[in-house]
Amino acid sequence: MRTIDWIDGHIELIDQTKLPGELVVRKVSDLDELIDDIKRLAVRGAPALGVSGGLGVALVAQQGLSGSDLEDAADRLANARPTAVNLSWGVKRVMQYASKGKDRILEEALKIRDEDIASCYSMGQYGADLMEELLGEGQHSVMTVCNTGGLACVERGTALGVIQTMFERGTLKEALPVETRPLLQGSRLTAWELQQMGAPYRLIVDSAGPFLLRRGFAQAFFAGADRIAANGDTANKIGTYSLSLGAKAMNLPVIIVAPESTIDMATKTGADIKIEDRGSEEVANFHGVRTAPEGTEAINPAFDVTPHENITAIVTDRRVIRIDRGETLATVPLGPIRT
Ligand code: MRU
Repeated sequence: MRTIDWIDGHIELIDQTKLPGELVVRKVSDLDELIDDIKRLAVRGAPALGVSGGLGVALVAQQGLSGSDLEDAADRLANARPTAVNLSWGVKRVMQYASKGKDRILEEALKIRDEDIASCYSMGQYGADLMEELLGEGQHSVMTVCNTGGLACVERGTALGVIQTMFERGTLKEALPVETRPLLQGSRLTAWELQQMGAPYRLIVDSAGPFLLRRGFAQAFFAGADRIAANGDTANKIGTYSLSLGAKAMNLPVIIVAPESTIDMATKTGADIKIEDRGSEEVANFHGVRTAPEGTEAINPAFDVTPHENITAIVTDRRVIRIDRGETLATVPLGPIRT
């Protein structure tokens, strides 16, 4: 089943706010609804946001928008969330064809969708090979944060895609997803996906991560990315930085897995990445239940930045960049998409 798709002239997406309780598919044929779905995280995860960007522009183009009206709609969509570069990347990629008409725009949006599927298989191969190289033969346990699975992409994931490939190859001992406060993408979505694939896993609370790494519960830490700056600094879900510190303290590999479309060479370092602040409400409440006194203000960055010094390797759909060996995004050439 696809997380987001184009069916009979409209967008269909899994409403991720309803998981794991209910699997609800929403039909979206209105741009404002799509923007709202993006803001409330019904559709989320950097690659799925890239596909949403492309399909959202295609949707309004099919409905007859063109010229400056199409540009305004594209701008609103591209700015629905600020941190994942994939959203504006997807919008820009299809807008290149704005003057070529609605069918060419749709064709490009569908290409983004199809490329995402292939690219996730490819990251799985590159990433699982790297694990064998770094950790040797046998089975290994891996800690991961947020949700980087099929729900964050179209069919298969990035970091969780590598874990899935390891499981299929028989090299996964156990996955340890952290629950990922405040919206629990780790427990609601990643645990759900691991269960669907039949992979061995145990859920841990965010603050247990570094301690369990110290106690040898996992041999590597994997994360996805929302934006990778030119120097390799990487924005990803809040908590990624602390887990990278925990892994680094134990000399364990910190592996970032993301498609090439997440690399933003125009952003020089992590300090230049805009971090979405999602406000107090979702920290002081959970699913309608107040978890802090009325009137409590929270600081709620949705993402943090892991400096490249903490990263062992960046795995994309086209290459592996060994940051620990001094390789950079600028020096490692692109390789093939592997299926
Ligand atoms: O706020 P979210 O759920 O959109 O955050 C998602 C993440 O941080 C993911 O790790 C990232 O987008 C990579 S998804 C393959």
